Amino acid sequence: MSTTGAEQGARRDTALRSARVLVVGAGIMGAGIAQVAAQAGQRVALFDAREGAALQARDRLAATFDTLVAKGRLPAAAAAEALARIDAVEQLEQAADCGLVVEAIVERLDVKRELLARLEALVAPDCVLASNTSSLSITALARDMRHPERLVGMHFFNPVPLMKLVEVVSGLRSDPAVARQVFELAGSWGKTAVHARSTPGFIVNRIARPYYAETLALLQEQAAAPETLDACLRAAGFRMGPCELMDLIGHDTNFAVTQAVYEANFFDKRFQPSLVQRELVDGGLLGRKTGRGFYDYADGAGQPSACPAPADLLEPDAATRLVVAGRGALADRLGAALCAAGREYEVDPQSAWCGLRVDGASLRLSDGRCATELGGDVAVFDLPLRDDNGLALAWAAGADASETWQQQAPRWLHLLGWQPLRLRDIPGLVVARTVAMLINEAADAVHQGVCSADGADHAMKLGVNYPAGPFEWLSLWHQLGAPDPAAMLDALDAHYRGERYRVSPALREQAWLRRRATSPETRA
Ligand code: NAI
Repeated sequence: MSTTGAEQGARRDTALRSARVLVVGAGIMGAGIAQVAAQAGQRVALFDAREGAALQARDRLAATFDTLVAKGRLPAAAAAEALARIDAVEQLEQAADCGLVVEAIVERLDVKRELLARLEALVAPDCVLASNTSSLSITALARDMRHPERLVGMHFFNPVPLMKLVEVVSGLRSDPAVARQVFELAGSWGKTAVHARSTPGFIVNRIARPYYAETLALLQEQAAAPETLDACLRAAGFRMGPCELMDLIGHDTNFAVTQAVYEANFFDKRFQPSLVQRELVDGGLLGRKTGRGFYDYADGAGQPSACPAPADLLEPDAATRLVVAGRGALADRLGAALCAAGREYEVDPQSAWCGLRVDGASLRLSDGRCATELGGDVAVFDLPLRDDNGLALAWAAGADASETWQQQAPRWLHLLGWQPLRLRDIPGLVVARTVAMLINEAADAVHQGVCSADGADHAMKLGVNYPAGPFEWLSLWHQLGAPDPAAMLDALDAHYRGERYRVSPALREQAWLRRRATSPETRA
C-alpha cells in the first residue's frame, strides 16, 4: 500500500515526539532543554564531556522540580515522573538509540563539528540532529556531515523553561521536512517556534541590535543621561530600558554578540559596536554582576533606573491661535487633550507635519530632522507609542529657539498629557529612531528570506519580551499619522552621512506603495 508524503511526514512527527532525546552539554542551556523535554513527556539522556557534570545537572533539576512543587506550580507526581525520565549518561554510546539530539555545548565551530561527526557515527541514520548555537552558521556546522540534511538549529532562549521562543534554523542543506518536524516538536514542548534561515544573529539577535545601538549612539553624543533614555523607552512599553537591560545581560556578553553580528556581516556599519560599551567592558564595569555598569548596584545605591523627577511645570501661557496640525490618531489625541484643558483650537489636516502650532511657534512630532534644522521657535517631540497619560516623552528645542519657547514647549507637552524629558537636539530623538531602526532591521530580515513578518513579530515578543512586534509597530506608526519610518531614516542618514541608517529595500518599497495609496495624485 502506498503512503503520501503528508502521511510520512505525520509519522515522522509522531516518531520525534515519542523518541528518546539526547541533550549534549549539561550547562545552563542543556539542563533547561532537558527539563522542558522531560516535562513534555519525552525520555531524556543528558551527557556532558566533563565527568560528573550531567549527574550534577540532574541533581540541580531535582531541586528545581522540588521548588516548583513547593510553590504549587507543578504537581508532585508530575515532577517525580519528569525527573524519572531524565538519565544522566556518562558515555554518549549509552544514548545511541535516541531519535533526536540537541547539542548545547561550548560555542565553538571546531568542537561542535567534531561532536556532530561523533554523533553521526553513533546514532541511527534517521535521527534528527539539532544545535542550540546562538551565533554559528548551521550551514558551516553541517559542512563535513554525511547527512547534512538532518541538521537544523533549535535555538532556545535563556532561561529555557520560561522563555517561549524557539528559532528553528535551516542551513543551506537542511531538509525542510526536518525543520518542520522540529518546529512541531517545539510546539508540543509548550514553545512557540519560528522558522529562520541561517544568517548572522538569526532573527532575535539580529533585529534587537538597534535597541542597544541607538541608545549607545545617543550616549556617545551626550544626548541625555542613561536614566532619561531608559525612562523614554520604558514609556514606549519596553519592560526594561536599554541601559538597565545591558547592565543585566552583562556588557561583556552584549558586546560580544554585537561584535559577532558585526564581524559576520563583513563589518557593515549598521551593526557597528559602540565605544561607550567598549570602555565599560575594558574597565570591568560589566553591569549587575560586577556591581557597576551604567548604574551603581552597590548596597544602598538606590533604584538604578528611576524615571527622572518630573519638572514642576506651570500651565502654558494663553495663546492667540492654536492649530492642531496633521491627521491621524496623534492629531486626534492632541485635539482631545486641548478640549479637556478647555483650550480652543483650529485644525489643519493638510499640514506637512503633525503636532501643534502655538501662534508663531510649533511643537512637531519628530520626522528625523533636528529642531535646529527646522529653525526658529520649533520644538520636536518623540513618537508616543502608547496613549496613557503622564508617560515620559523626549523633546528638544532648536539652538535658535527663543528662551520663551524653550520654557513654553514643555508646558504644552505637559498639558497635552506627557511628562516631557528634554534631550539635546538629536535627530529622531529616542523612541522614534530606535523603533524605526527595529522596523528597518525586521524588514531587511524578511526581505532577505530570514523569516516571515509574522515570525519576526512573534520572535521579538517572545524572545526579548518586546511589547509589540516590528511590523505591528509599523501599522501603529501609520495609524498615528507619523512620517514614514523610511523618511525618518533618510533624514538620519542625511544627518550622519554613513551606512548606519541605510533604508532596507523592503521598507523603501512599502513607503512608495503607501505614498501612492494615500495620495493617488502622486502617481507618475
Ligand atoms: P555552559 O558553559 O553553561 O554549558 C556548556 C556545557 O557543555 C558545559 O557543561 C561543558 O562541560 C559542556 N561541553 C563542552 N564541550 C563539550 C563537548 N565536546 N561534549 C560534551 N559536552 C561539552 O554554556 P551554555 O550557556 O549552556 O551554552 C551552550 C550553548 O547554548 C552554546 O552553543 C551557546 O551559544 C548556546 N546558547 C546560550 C544561551 C545563553 O544565554 N547562555 C542562549 C542561547 C543559546
